[in-house]
Amino acid sequence: MVPSTSSNVAAEAGRRRTFAVISHPDAGKSTLTEALALHAEVISEAGAVHGKSGRRGVVSDWLEMERSRGISITSAALQFAYGDAVINLLDTPGHADFSEDTYRVLSAVDSAVMLLDAAKGLEPQTLKLFDVCRYRGIPVITFINKWDRPGREVLELCDELTERIGLQPMPLTWPVGVAGQFRGVLDLVDGSFVRYTRTAGGATAAPEERLDPGRAEEELGAEWVSASEESELITAAGGEFDAARFLDASATPVLFGAAVLNFGVRHLLDLLVELAPRPSARLDVDERPRALDAPFSAFVFKVQTGMDPAHRDQVAFARVCSGVFERGMVVTNASTARPFATKYAQQVFGQQRSTVETAYPGDVIGLVNASALRVGDTLHDGKPAVRFPGLPSFAPAHFAVARPADLSRAKQFRKGIEQLESEGVVQVLRSDRRGDGTPVVAAVGPMQFEVAAHRLDAEFKSPVKLDHLPYTTVRRLTDPAQRSVVDSGGRSEVLTRTDGTELALFVDDMTMRIMLRRNPDLALEPLVAEGSA
Ligand code: G4P
Repeated sequence: MVPSTSSNVAAEAGRRRTFAVISHPDAGKSTLTEALALHAEVISEAGAVHGKSGRRGVVSDWLEMERSRGISITSAALQFAYGDAVINLLDTPGHADFSEDTYRVLSAVDSAVMLLDAAKGLEPQTLKLFDVCRYRGIPVITFINKWDRPGREVLELCDELTERIGLQPMPLTWPVGVAGQFRGVLDLVDGSFVRYTRTAGGATAAPEERLDPGRAEEELGAEWVSASEESELITAAGGEFDAARFLDASATPVLFGAAVLNFGVRHLLDLLVELAPRPSARLDVDERPRALDAPFSAFVFKVQTGMDPAHRDQVAFARVCSGVFERGMVVTNASTARPFATKYAQQVFGQQRSTVETAYPGDVIGLVNASALRVGDTLHDGKPAVRFPGLPSFAPAHFAVARPADLSRAKQFRKGIEQLESEGVVQVLRSDRRGDGTPVVAAVGPMQFEVAAHRLDAEFKSPVKLDHLPYTTVRRLTDPAQRSVVDSGGRSEVLTRTDGTELALFVDDMTMRIMLRRNPDLALEPLVAEGSA
């Protein structure tokens, strides 16, 4: 049993760095995750980097890593020790299963690593995730990956950050040698050259050899001079490193590397430990900070329901905000004021995966048999009660009319839709024009529909018929009086979300722009996220 004194909690929280990697599929997130874990104390070798064909998705990759290396992993977070720090890397599923869950994970991190492919720069999924980081004011470190192969110019990639997302790049390293002929990096903090050494398949942490600037210039000649000159251009143009600008999320430290060769990864970890924000007092619904050493509190940011009908388990993932979690404690669910026992849940969890015995602010706990828990719920120990703000709803991108396939099950169907909405599985929209209360379900990612359909069938015995709607562009209609303008279009309509938000939907961007041209007073706003998070 760990004594939970205030200083103990504060010290443990101070060791935590809780972050997520945001990237587009194929930028190298799984590879970077492996490479990061390679530096953890318990690990000595990354093992074979999987072939894509043999890969079963990040979750199973992580479970495999857990078995082979003894690090603590839930399907939502990877935890490992690095020096004196405890790193919590939260998974943001980025592939076919991209959904609102992916965004919600970002409510549970203190910082993010934006991983870019050197040949591609900013890609759509990265941009979507970055929008959420910006909305939440999450500080972002940028790691430009795959520098070992031909890619774009450094300055061009840096310009893209400034121009497309208004984020000032502050490079901390600068690659020497053009992409594809990578020699190493110029460390802009101390001016030395870090030589890049290829190790067999990146299986072990690459040895780091440093040369002073004089030696580097002798050895590398023009390549060194050009790297020095180019990097000065950026620092002169406002890219000088400034920790405060990183923390206020207006600028991003940039590192270059090759995750597959484990080059630049240690630097990234060191940077996270040195610079990334530690867990801090979270604001409750009344905007009062919950001190780190207050009694245990946490909020649920993700609920995962087993897709396997044989195991209809539900795991709720919660981020600890204050105090100490000890397995077996009985906590209160602030939404219902009901007790929630963690003991049984954790034992079952322990048999299947790893058991979390103790957790501190910044850590993620997985609670099984958590059917009473919803996304956004607060758990707390004892008094005073605390409630953290609910999680926001995100701009949906997929829409479908939902009808019961079997009309005799209409009542169960309605109940099911209500339940799925309350859990945040899908958003529910309605309009008088569509009549008879037929709901339109909306989702950030199409997999949310699959989950909803499966659950309506399995749990409510009411299979659903989904008719997909062709909308791709969504805005918030700020003036309800203008509803008829959008509704008159034929290729657009207004639907009301249960939280009261009026969503204007258009089949494409062009349709929206034409409507705006014809109706210059139409008040439409972009919709990243709303709510009180
Ligand atoms: P993801 O999780 O973001 O989708 O990306 P993942 O790690 O699966 O990496 C996507 C591809 O990019 C993989 O190649 C991976 O090996 C490669 N990759 C990752 N980091 C680097 C890097 O630093 N340099 C280079 N050159 N490649 C990198 P693949 O061909 O799809 O699979 P594999 O057979 O190589 O595993």
